[in-house]
Amino acid sequence: MNYYIITGASKGIGKALAEELLKDENNHVVGVCRTSTIQHPNYRHQPLDFSDIAAVEHNLQKVFLPYKDAEKLVLVNNAGVLGDIGYVGEGMANERFEFVFDVNVIVPAMLMNTFLEVYRVLDCPKVILNISSGAGKYPIDGWAAYCASKAALDMLSMTMQKEQEVRGSNVQIFSLSPGVVDTGMQENIREADAGQFSTVQKFREYKANGDLASPDEVGEKIARFLQNTDKYNEVLLSVRDM
Ligand SMILES: NC(=O)c1ccc[n+]([C@@H]2O[C@H](COP(=O)([O-])OP(=O)(O)OC[C@H]3O[C@@H](n4cnc5c(N)ncnc54)[C@H](OP(=O)(O)O)[C@@H]3O)[C@@H](O)[C@H]2O)c1
Repeated sequence: MNYYIITGASKGIGKALAEELLKDENNHVVGVCRTSTIQHPNYRHQPLDFSDIAAVEHNLQKVFLPYKDAEKLVLVNNAGVLGDIGYVGEGMANERFEFVFDVNVIVPAMLMNTFLEVYRVLDCPKVILNISSGAGKYPIDGWAAYCASKAALDMLSMTMQKEQEVRGSNVQIFSLSPGVVDTGMQENIREADAGQFSTVQKFREYKANGDLASPDEVGEKIARFLQNTDKYNEVLLSVRDM
C-alpha cells in the first residue's frame, strides 16, 4: 500500500490531488484539514485546525498511524492561507502574522518533523512535498506575511533535504510552486482592494482571459510527479517544469 497524507484535502489543489490518487486502489489518502468533503473507502479524514497549535501537537499521533505495510509514504503539506491582504504598518493586526505563519510554516514543520521521526524505522521510500508559491521567490505588495511564509517553507525544504542527504536516507523533499490555479484562494485575491495590492488587476485578468489552470489539471500533474520523484534532483520545483 502507498500512503499519502495530504493537508488541505477538502478543496482546491489538495482535493483534486487526493481524488486523482484515489483512482488507484493501491493508494490510501489521509486528508488533514478542518472539513471533510471526500467519501471513498481508501480515504480517512483527520480533522485539524492549523491555527490551533496546541490541538495540532495533541493530535499528531492520529495523523501518522504506524502503517507497517507501507510500500511508500508521502506527506504533502498543501494547506495554506494568504491572510489579510494589506500593507504592513497600515492597520494590520499583529496576530495576522502569527496566523499565516502557523498554517503555512509552523504546522508544516511540525508535520515534517513527526513524519520523519515516526517513519524512520520503515525502509520504504518516503517523500515530503511542500506546496510553495512563486510568491516565496519575489515580493508582492500586500502579501508580506504570505511571501515570507512561502520563502520560509522553501528554506525548510532545502535544509531538510540536505540533512537527509548527509544521513544517506531514502527520503526526498521538494517544494513545489503550483502556478496560478482556479481555487478559492484566487477568488479572494481578485476581490482585494487595489489600494492594498497594486497588481490585483493582473489577477483579475488571469481569470477573465482563462489563464488559470484548473485544480484537476494541477492535481493530475502532481500525482504523476509523486509517482516519478526519482527523476527530480532539485528541491525547488515549479509545476511548469512537469
Ligand atoms: N491557487 C493558487 O493559484 C496557488 C498559487 C500558488 C500557491 N498556492 C498554494 O497551494 C496550496 C493550496 O491552495 P488552494 O489554492 O488549493 O487553496 P484553497 O482552495 O483555499 O484550499 C486551501 C486548503 O487549506 C486548508 N486550510 C486552510 N486553512 C486551514 C486551517 N486553519 N487548518 C487546516 N487546514 C486549513 C483548507 O481546508 P479546510 O478549510 O477544510 O480546513 C483547504 O483544503 C496553498 O498552500 C497555496 O498557498 C496556490
